Amino acid sequence: MLQYETKIDAKQLKGKDFLTLLDFSSDEIFYLLELASKMKKEQKDGKISNVLQGRSLGMIFENASTRTRVSFEVGMTQLGGHALFLSPRDLQIGRGEPISDTAQVLSRYVDAIMVRTNSHEKVEELAKYSTVPVINALTDFYHPCQALADLLTIYEHKGSFQGNKLVYVGDGNNVAHSLVIAAAKVGMDIAVATPVGYEMNSDIIEKAQEVAKTTGATILITNDPIEAVSDADIIYTDVWASMGFESEQKEREEAFGPFQVNHSLVSYAKSDYIFLHCLPAHRGEEVTAEIIDDSKHSVIYDEAENRLHVQKAILASVIK
Ligand code: CP
Ligand code: NVA
Repeated sequence: MLQYETKIDAKQLKGKDFLTLLDFSSDEIFYLLELASKMKKEQKDGKISNVLQGRSLGMIFENASTRTRVSFEVGMTQLGGHALFLSPRDLQIGRGEPISDTAQVLSRYVDAIMVRTNSHEKVEELAKYSTVPVINALTDFYHPCQALADLLTIYEHKGSFQGNKLVYVGDGNNVAHSLVIAAAKVGMDIAVATPVGYEMNSDIIEKAQEVAKTTGATILITNDPIEAVSDADIIYTDVWASMGFESEQKEREEAFGPFQVNHSLVSYAKSDYIFLHCLPAHRGEEVTAEIIDDSKHSVIYDEAENRLHVQKAILASVIK
C-alpha cells in the first residue's frame, strides 16, 4: 500500500475521461495508485471482484498492441465485465464513418471506450461526442496508462517518489511526455535527455513545469545523456522510432547512438538504480541486452504487469 493520504471522494472520478494525467490532480493520481495497489493484492490473494459485472469496454486499436490490449481485456474480465476488441479494419470508422457518430453510437452500447491511435485530436473528438468515459491507450502525444503503471512500479521498488531521480533517455515522445507529467504530479525529480531535434513538445514541458512548481518536483531538460543519468535512481528509455515513425529508423539510429542505455551510461547512475522500459524493446538499439536483461536492476516485467493493475483501477473508478 502507498503511504500517501488521499482526500478524494471515490465518486468524483465517475464518468471522467482518462486522456492525459494533466486532467487529474495529484490526489486523484495517488488515489488511483492506492486502488491499483489494493486490487493487485486482492488478485494475488485470490479474491474475486465483480465491481464491473455486466459492464462492457469497447477497445479501438488503430495500432498494434500486446500489453495494452491483453491487460485491458483481462482487467475487464477480472472485474466481472467484458471487453470487445474493435479493429478499424472491421469498424465502419475504417470506411469513413465520422468519429462523432461512432462515439455516440458506441456510447449506447458500452460503458467505456478505450482507444489507441496516432492522433491525439481523434481521441479528444471521440471524448467530446461520447457520453461514456474515454480512456487514452496511447496517442502521438501521450501514454497515460503506461505512466501510471510506471509510477506504481517505481513506488513498489523505491518506496517513495520524493527524493528519487527519474531519468528518461531517448526520444521526446508520447511516453516521455506522460512520464514528465506523472513525475511532476507526484513530486518526483525527473531529467530528460533527448538528441537535438528530438526534444519533447514545448507546451507539454511548460505544463509539466507549472505542475512541478506546486509539488516541488524538479525537471531537467538536456541534450546530454550523461548529465541526465548522473545519480539516477531510475533509468527509463523507449524505442527510437515510435509507431508511425518507422520510416525514420535509419536517420534516427545515427542521432540516437549516444543515447543508448548501456554499461557505460549506467555507470553514472546510483549503484541501486532500477531500469524501466514500456516495451516493446529493441535490444542493441535504445538499450543493450546486458542492461535490460539484468534482473538485478531491470524491473520491466513488473512494470508490464502493473499495466493490468492500474488499468483495473482506472476502469473501476471512471465507469459509472
Ligand atoms: N507498453 C505498451 O503500451 O505496450 P503495447 O504496445 O504492447 O500495448
Ligand atoms: N513510444 C512507443 C510506445 C509503444 C508502447 C510508440 O508510440 O510506439
